[in-house]
Amino acid sequence: MRTPKLLRTQAFRIVGIYLAIFAVSTLALVGFVYWNTSLVLDRETDETIEAEITGLEEQYSTLGLPGVTDAIIGRSARREQGIYLLANSNRRVLAGNLDGWPQVSTTNGGFVEFRYERRIGNAAQLRSARGRIITLTQGFYLLVARDVEERRVLENVFKTALLWGAGLMIVLGLVGGLLVSHNFLKRLELINRTSRQIMGGDLSLRVPVTRAGDEFDDLSLHLNRMLDRIERLLHGMREVSDNVAHDLRSPLNRLRNRLELAAMRQPADSETARDFDAAVQETDRLIGTFNALLLIAEAEAGSVRETMHNLSLGDVIEGVGELYGPLAEEKQLRFVVKKAADAGFIRGNLNLVSQALANLVDNAIKYTPPGGTVVVSLENNPSGPALVVADNGPGIPAQDRARVTERFVRLESSRNSPGTGLGLSLVAAVARMHDAELSFDDNQPGLRATLSFKRVPEGTRPGKAAPAREVVSEPVH
Ligand SMILES: Nc1ncnc2c1ncn2[C@@H]1O[C@H](COP(=O)(O)OP(=O)(O)OP(=O)(O)O)[C@@H](O)[C@H]1O
Ligand SMILES: [Mg+2]
Repeated sequence: MRTPKLLRTQAFRIVGIYLAIFAVSTLALVGFVYWNTSLVLDRETDETIEAEITGLEEQYSTLGLPGVTDAIIGRSARREQGIYLLANSNRRVLAGNLDGWPQVSTTNGGFVEFRYERRIGNAAQLRSARGRIITLTQGFYLLVARDVEERRVLENVFKTALLWGAGLMIVLGLVGGLLVSHNFLKRLELINRTSRQIMGGDLSLRVPVTRAGDEFDDLSLHLNRMLDRIERLLHGMREVSDNVAHDLRSPLNRLRNRLELAAMRQPADSETARDFDAAVQETDRLIGTFNALLLIAEAEAGSVRETMHNLSLGDVIEGVGELYGPLAEEKQLRFVVKKAADAGFIRGNLNLVSQALANLVDNAIKYTPPGGTVVVSLENNPSGPALVVADNGPGIPAQDRARVTERFVRLESSRNSPGTGLGLSLVAAVARMHDAELSFDDNQPGLRATLSFKRVPEGTRPGKAAPAREVVSEPVH
């Protein structure tokens, strides 16, 4: 079972630890005072008892049994708190203010504690007493005790109060802890929420700063300053890449066109024409790499978030299917496009998602040998819609699946096919931007690439989805 978030906060833990230390030290202090007080009071009682015993013993030794009996009778009549009892060896009471020899419960350093009955008016009351029993010569027993009922009652009141106090302290401490952590969490959640939104691509957002001027405000201010700096850096970088893009793309295109023109001016089938053609292809690859790098940078900069809207993956798969069907046919591949009924909408950028799917389909067509099959499908999973491209080509070994999404990574087995190793990097960047998950599995044989998206919650959709339709295009063999 998971503990509630409030109880897991650092603030609650600190309050808890503080409360425990406070409770233990308070209880220890109160306990010590209590223990010390009762010790002093007990000692006082014991000393009085000792003094009385000494007096009575003297009476006994000087005046014998009648003397001590008289003294006991006298003291019994005088003292409210005093209990005196003289008994013979059979514990038969000879004199004193108790009816019978008491049932002694505890013995402690020669002292005993017992309960006795005292008559107040007509009612008999059971009370506590503490005293000492000594044996006189000739087998007589002498008991001298004091009534300690009031003290015991007070002790009990004290103990109960201590228990209640401790309980109340824990309850109040918990309530205080909860309040403090709630406040703590509220401030943290504000920072977390803003951070999430910023990570989502809105770099212009800032963490709110209150007027409290506390540590949270310090933290928020520092975060905001850091964000300012990151934004400035990013802005600078974007400017540079934009300039590079602008300044390099057009000359590259011009170069390509000139090469093409030059090639056309050569007699067909001449060596120079072939050289020019090769140069045009090389320039095309260069432009392709350049565009892919710019697109990845753009996708990763997060600015595409602003261009996202609700889009249907059905439209994406249809567009890509139409575009790649003929290419697959040319390579003599069976090309199947499957669309699940009402897969829902996702939030995304149509161009980027289409480009990502196109890259996956391009790979499948490129790496699957002729006669193979490429299946592009839109699945409607419980977690959300997913684009799946499955082929029965050579596949990607499990140990290489993580690194193929890195820039310029191409597997040894694909050295002979054209490519720059940027296709899957773009797919991964698009997936990241869309909170989607890109995974590769074994299609036994072949590769099964899945792009799983999060569905846009029902109700926020732009009207009803188009009726389900299965588009199947197959190449001519
Ligand atoms: N469907 C697939 N079957 C087998 N291997 C694959 C498949 N898709 C990708 N790969 C391997 O992963 C590597 C990286 O793919 P990626 O798309 O990033 O680059 P590329 O296809 O080589 O070049 P580009 O897509 O930039 O033209 C490929 O070189 C290839 O080795
Ligand atoms: Mg590729």
